[in-house]
Amino acid sequence: MVTLGVLISGRGSNLQAILRAIADGRLSARVAVVVSNIEGAPGLAHASAAGVPTVVISHRGWPSREEYDAHLVGVLRAHHVELVCLAGFMRRLTPVLIDAFPHRVLNVHPSLLPAFPGVDAQRQALEHGVRVAGCTVHLVTPTIDAGPIVLQACVPVTDDDTVDTLAARILEEEHRVYPEAIRLVSEGLGRVEGRRWISTGRTAPLSDADGRG
Ligand code: GAR
Repeated sequence: MVTLGVLISGRGSNLQAILRAIADGRLSARVAVVVSNIEGAPGLAHASAAGVPTVVISHRGWPSREEYDAHLVGVLRAHHVELVCLAGFMRRLTPVLIDAFPHRVLNVHPSLLPAFPGVDAQRQALEHGVRVAGCTVHLVTPTIDAGPIVLQACVPVTDDDTVDTLAARILEEEHRVYPEAIRLVSEGLGRVEGRRWISTGRTAPLSDADGRG
């Protein structure tokens, strides 16, 4: 069973989807800690309701991003976290955190990357006029929204969509694929080759999942 640390900044619906997948037995994992950079983020209440410890580490007042990330690494390690899941965590991570968990930081993003990275992905998609949108779960690298893609799911864009209706349709898919991607990575059912995640279907211990073992 993999030990997860989930990082949030807001609503926490993806956190809830992860907790649901664990409760349903679709994901063999334990959320050891939920960290938010925002005091009072609604997702913190979901964590507490599920009996998961929460920690708030405001991003304000740190001399550098690196020092913030080093503190975050300390908190995650103190909770024995093996896999870090960004779930609406609106902070760019530095190599200090990414290198502390090699190929073990996942993010969910509400677009079909590499299209529409960064903020307001659903608005970007709508304004661009795409007919298909979706979400991506990827491993995190220092370049924002650019790491190896583990899973994607697409949804149609309709002529009468607003940012809200499109975001809601995408979010349903996020909730479906994020726990599944966590399962694939934590069970070692693939490995990283260059910038690609190659699905092997072969179970390897967590420490071997990136092909180094
Ligand atoms: C989700 O749509 C997630 O994909 C997005 O923030 C939302 C968080 O919702 N993340 C990003 O845009 C990261 N670049 P949630 O707090 O309800 O899970």
